[in-house]
Amino acid sequence: MMEKENKKIIRLDFNENPFGFPKEILEKVAREIDSDYIARYTEAPTKELSDCLVNYIKDTTRANFIDERWITVSAGADDGIKLLMELRPKRVVLFPPTYFYYYFFVKGLRLNYEEFPLIDDMYIPKVELKEGDMVFLPNPNNPTGHMFDDEEILRLLNSPATVVIDEAYFEFSWKTSVKFLKDYKNLVILRTFSKAFAFAGQRFGYIIAHPEMIERINTVREEYNLSSFVMRLAVEALKNRFLFFGRIKEIEMERLRMAEELENLGLEPFPSQSNFLYFKVEDAEKVRDKLREMGICVRVLWKGIRVSIGKKEENDAFIAALKEILG
Ligand SMILES: Cc1ncc(COP(=O)(O)O)c(C=O)c1O
Repeated sequence: MMEKENKKIIRLDFNENPFGFPKEILEKVAREIDSDYIARYTEAPTKELSDCLVNYIKDTTRANFIDERWITVSAGADDGIKLLMELRPKRVVLFPPTYFYYYFFVKGLRLNYEEFPLIDDMYIPKVELKEGDMVFLPNPNNPTGHMFDDEEILRLLNSPATVVIDEAYFEFSWKTSVKFLKDYKNLVILRTFSKAFAFAGQRFGYIIAHPEMIERINTVREEYNLSSFVMRLAVEALKNRFLFFGRIKEIEMERLRMAEELENLGLEPFPSQSNFLYFKVEDAEKVRDKLREMGICVRVLWKGIRVSIGKKEENDAFIAALKEILG
């Protein structure tokens, strides 16, 4: 009994960063901030944070037109999604399989929505988009992990709809739609620190869009929507970003290895540019439950299994368990 209780559960179901947040950054921030900084209301984003974000966006995209007017901040990308939906579009357009939380907010806010399934789970179908539509598209996609290409995104942008590209996994693909912002006022880009920056429990995200769109979003955003501590931590993470990028490389190598291992089991993982893999398998729910009994958590989404890339030993345990289950 005791032994069972003490067995460490392997969490491969939330696409979190398995390496944790660097302790040295956490300790530096804790040493540097004073108690008054914690005690005061602090408008978000601070100047320091917004400068660091602009610098990061420019460094990683060469989009030199971006300045602080082009960004706003949210308590994670989910909060960014909610802020956008609070602008109350006439119709939300989704392309399943997609990020399941879009449905949570659409339903919670009682918005009108329509779904157009991806062709072969990969390609965006032709849809007539209208004024008042808001499209949500994760790129790389979740749960499949694959990237939509620029032509598909341009097809959406060349419409009267607001097009929200959710780049939660940007640092795993290094491909972005930021370059389209200059020409498309209807484009909104969502980002998060939850994945690459190992920040999921701290809740920090940012939104990049034309200043007019940012102004609209700020009308539904609370001025103090982020903790002052989180903002300091985000600044320090950005200043030390290369600490995180090394870990991303490791995750990428593990993803390639895991994909090969899955193929060796006769499975067909989708091509992924994120920190997870997705594959279809018969009785996915049964497989998930058996994995759970063996102490490994994965997710079933749209009848497929999505597994996060963990540390090497966690991935090995997952592959060994799957091998046993599939016989
Ligand atoms: C596509 C996508 N968007 C948004 C989020 C939410 O991220 P956050 O933790 O920043 O709310 C996730 C998290 O899994 C995601 O996969």
